[in-house]
Amino acid sequence: MKKIDVVLGLQWGDEGKGKVVDVLTPNYKVVARFQGGPNAGHSLHFGDKSFVLRTVPSGIFREGSMNIIGNGVVVDPVSLTEELRNISEQGVPVKDKMLISKKAHVILPTHRMLDAASEAAKGKSKIGSTLKGIGPTYMDKTGRNGLRFGDVLAHDFIDRYNRLKAKHVAMLAQYEGFEYDITEYEAEWFKGIEYLRGFKFVDSEHEVNKLIDEDVAILAEGAQGSMLDVDFGTYPFVTSSNTVCAGVCTGLGVAPTKIGDVYGIFKAYCTRVGSGPFPTELFDEVGEELRRIGHEFGAVTGRPRRCGWLDLVALKYAVMVDGVTGLIMMKSDVMNDFDTVKVATAYKINGEVVDHFPYEVNDDLEPVYTEFKGWKCDICKVRRYEDFPAEFKAYVEFIEQQTGVPVKIISVGPDREETIIR
Ligand code: GDP
Ligand code: IMO
Ligand code: MG
Repeated sequence: MKKIDVVLGLQWGDEGKGKVVDVLTPNYKVVARFQGGPNAGHSLHFGDKSFVLRTVPSGIFREGSMNIIGNGVVVDPVSLTEELRNISEQGVPVKDKMLISKKAHVILPTHRMLDAASEAAKGKSKIGSTLKGIGPTYMDKTGRNGLRFGDVLAHDFIDRYNRLKAKHVAMLAQYEGFEYDITEYEAEWFKGIEYLRGFKFVDSEHEVNKLIDEDVAILAEGAQGSMLDVDFGTYPFVTSSNTVCAGVCTGLGVAPTKIGDVYGIFKAYCTRVGSGPFPTELFDEVGEELRRIGHEFGAVTGRPRRCGWLDLVALKYAVMVDGVTGLIMMKSDVMNDFDTVKVATAYKINGEVVDHFPYEVNDDLEPVYTEFKGWKCDICKVRRYEDFPAEFKAYVEFIEQQTGVPVKIISVGPDREETIIR
C-alpha cells in the first residue's frame, strides 16, 4: 500500500501551491483536490506559458497524470467549463485526464448571489470573500439541502435545481435593496452542466482507495491555507472548508492511516487577501516593496494582497495542526535586496509574551521580532542549497530549528526550473 502525500498552504493562501504541485507531479501519477472551489487561484509557469487553475488540480499539464476533483470540493459549472476549455486548447486531453466526484457539491448561480448579498449586508465587517458562492454552497451541504454532481445525472435534475433555486430566491428577498439578475449566468451555467456531462463522474473515494491499494502514487492538493480553515483559522475571517490536513480524509474518503508525507508550503514572508487578523502586517514601505516585488495581487480577484513579515507563531500552529513532515519555502527571491529580514517568534499581548496563536487577535497584540541580516544578492539562479549565501542559509535553518521540520524545497522564482530540492 502506498500512502497518499499532501501539499497544503500553511498561511492565508497563495503560498505557491500550484507551482509546487506542478513541480512534484513527475513523482505522482494522480493529483487530487480535496476542498475549496473556484475561490482558489493556483498559478503555473513553464517556458513562456502561464495558467491560473481554480478547480482543476495542478497536475493537469503533466503527461500521463490523472486528476481528481474530490467530494470535498465545490464546483461551479461555468468556471470549471471555462477552465477545461482553456486547458483543452493547449492540446491537453482533459476528458481522459479528469475524474469528478459524484459527491462534489455544485455551486448554483443563486449561491453566488447569496454570497454577494451576505457580504453587502455585513458592510464594514465583511469577510472579503471572493464572491464565488463558496460559503452558501458549503452551508447547503451541511444544511443537507445541496445539489451534488451525481444529481446532474438524475432524471429529475431540473426539479431538484428549481427547488433549491426557489429556496435561495426566498432567502435573497430578505436582503433589502439587493438587486440581481442571473438570467445570463444561469444560461451559461446550464451550458456548463451539458459540457461537463461529457466527463467521468465517479465515486472518487473508491477510485482513490483502489489506487492506494495498487501502490499508485497520489498527491492531494490543498486550496487556501491553514489560517483560513473554518475550524482553526482566524474565524470568522476564514473560508468555509477544512483546509488543514484532516480535510484530505473527509474530502477524498481516505483514512488517516493512509496519509504519508505532508508538505507544508509557506512564503518566506506573509500575505493575506480579504479582511481579518494579520499580526505581522506591514503598513510601511517594506510592505509596499513586498507587494511590488512579489507581484502580490490576487490571481482570481486582482485585489492587492496585504503583506508582512513571516509569522513563526502562526506557522508553528499550522505545522502542529497539519502534522507537517516537510516544509517548502517560496518566494525568498522577493527579499533579495532587503538589508534586514524580520521574523515574528512570539506575540506581546497586554505586556505578556505569548508563544502560541491566541483565540482572538486584536489591537493589543504586538509581534516580537527576531532580525536577520539580508542576503543582498540575487538567489534566483541558485540551484544547489550549498550555493546559497550564508545569511540566507541562516534564515532557513532558523525556521527549521523553530518549527522542528526540515525545509525540503526552496523556490526562488515562479518557473518550474527555479526550484531547489534538498
Ligand atoms: P497558490 O494559490 O498557492 O497556488 O499561489 P498563487 O498562484 O495564488 O500565488 C503565488 C504567486 O507567486 C504566483 O504568481 C506564482 O507564479 C508566484 N511564485 C511562486 N513561487 C514563486 C517564487 O519562488 N518566487 C517568485 N518570485 N514568485 C513565485
Ligand atoms: P488559494 O487556493 C487567498 C480568502 C478570501 C476571503 C476568505 C473567504 O489560491 O490559496 P471565500 O471566497 O472562500 O468565501 O473567501 O478567504 N480566500 C483566499 N485567499 N488564497 C485563496 O485560495 C483564497 N480562497 C479564499 O480572500 O478573505
Ligand atoms: Mg492563489
